[in-house]
Amino acid sequence: MRLISVCLTLILVLVAPLHTAQARQAAISSAHPAATDAGFEILEQGGNAFDAAVAVSAVLAVVEPYSSGIGGGGFWLLYRNKDGKQIMIDGREKAPYQSHRDMYLDSTGEVIPGLSVDGPLSAGIPGEPAALVHIAEKYGKLSLHKTLAPAIRAARNGFKVTPHYQRMAQFRLEALRKSPAAAKIFLLNNEVPPLGYVIKQEDLAKTLEAMAKHGRAGFYEGEVARRLVTETRKAGGIWSMQDLAKYQIVERKPLTGHYRGYQITSAAPPSSGGIALLEILHQLEGLDLHEQNNLQRKHLIIEAMRRAYRDRAEYLGDPDFVKVPIKTLLSKQHADQLRKSIDPEWATPSSDLKPVASKDSGFHTTHFSIIDKHGNRVAATLSINYPFGSCYVPPGTGVLLNDEMDDFSAKPGVPNAYGLVGAEANAIAPGKRMLSSMSPTFVENKQRLAVIGTPGGSRIITMVLHGILAFVDGKDAETIVNLPRYHHQYLPDMVQHEVDAFSAEEKAGLEKRGHQLKQLDSTYGNMHIVIQDKKTGKLSAAGDKRGEGKALVK
Ligand code: GLY
Repeated sequence: MRLISVCLTLILVLVAPLHTAQARQAAISSAHPAATDAGFEILEQGGNAFDAAVAVSAVLAVVEPYSSGIGGGGFWLLYRNKDGKQIMIDGREKAPYQSHRDMYLDSTGEVIPGLSVDGPLSAGIPGEPAALVHIAEKYGKLSLHKTLAPAIRAARNGFKVTPHYQRMAQFRLEALRKSPAAAKIFLLNNEVPPLGYVIKQEDLAKTLEAMAKHGRAGFYEGEVARRLVTETRKAGGIWSMQDLAKYQIVERKPLTGHYRGYQITSAAPPSSGGIALLEILHQLEGLDLHEQNNLQRKHLIIEAMRRAYRDRAEYLGDPDFVKVPIKTLLSKQHADQLRKSIDPEWATPSSDLKPVASKDSGFHTTHFSIIDKHGNRVAATLSINYPFGSCYVPPGTGVLLNDEMDDFSAKPGVPNAYGLVGAEANAIAPGKRMLSSMSPTFVENKQRLAVIGTPGGSRIITMVLHGILAFVDGKDAETIVNLPRYHHQYLPDMVQHEVDAFSAEEKAGLEKRGHQLKQLDSTYGNMHIVIQDKKTGKLSAAGDKRGEGKALVK
């Protein structure tokens, strides 16, 4: 018994969060200046990092409609400095009760293109409203009236169309035109609005006011819920009042692991992020990357990514529905086995790895990082999946619905919008959460701490990986968010990369080893990081040059 208790204490000490130093300042980095400013407005009113997170999430829901929203969901990784508690708020969407495994297949068993991406049938039951209310009530100090006020103001007064908004709206133009309420809000005369045009969202302001007044009932019950259900069903959806009334967030224990003396804390299932990140880092820990030249280092990182994404495809899904073998996947033995299968000289074709027995994300989504002056932290990655989600707005609600149902495996082995394949573990079932790649993460040792994350679908995990490796190498916030990126996700069997990820010599070397390289037409991701020097408490923050966000320490 004594031995057990000593062991337990040891385990607790090993995974205990390392305290954040108190700082006189706070730092916020988010994808939009209005959201970062709203976070500081709330801190200045006496709110803590959790109140600021509610305000930042809600403003992003208004001013970045292509990335996240109250019609979507997300994961909020929280750390409370006074007692060291760290918890993941799982506000991931759930499949409606009338959903079923083959709902996106035709009579011959083939996937019907677009059905899980556009329109109300592609929408899971939103989790963000419940998550914001929960965070405010359990962890915040201020009322929702205060924390939602900046978002309500932004919805009512409007925000200006930027070049990024235009690109996203152009990408989803056809789907937006199909929903008259969405087109009325997000387009001008059914076209992409000009730069500087002001998007006002009066219905959304009213829905947010209902949440400020009635808490979760303001969204999941009453007039807003009735409209969401009636309109969604009229347009071919399958939501019911019961789906909304029964939606619950889950507080989950985040996953924790170690790499070169740093503790990594990241998202637990139904995110694949924490498991895949730790699997990759565990493989790399035994490969002594610092002894390798750049080409060899990149070859090994790619091979470790390939293997972790294979496991993702086979084993990961909603832990409330399927048994996810977390312990095995994160064990030393498994890392040793995967590492041993890496050929130091040659790429392993994905087809040579154990096939996925029977039967995974990209584009838009958003991430923000906060540390307040008390040492509380929030890393939050939020999504409505594809840009502008399902592109469907139930009239009178202002709520742009997600298309997160596409993150399920519609059919074993058939890739989703991000080219990810999945297995039985991620098949559709009523009330189930779809697998995610969102990876809000803390990285720390006794000296330094990073609160990091990014959008980018299936590439989120490998972007956060590059960020962790650079942080461990001592790089600063600005350098980390702007690193060139490359990615391998098992299938398709290719290394997707930004234009400047490899030198000409590295490209030739990787190709010679058998890697198929695919240079992407555009850059990807929108990383936000806050770093703290734990000894001095000094904070730094940076937002990705690829985005239009704002990072501020004050
Ligand atoms: N919809 C993006 C993700 O959850 O991975």
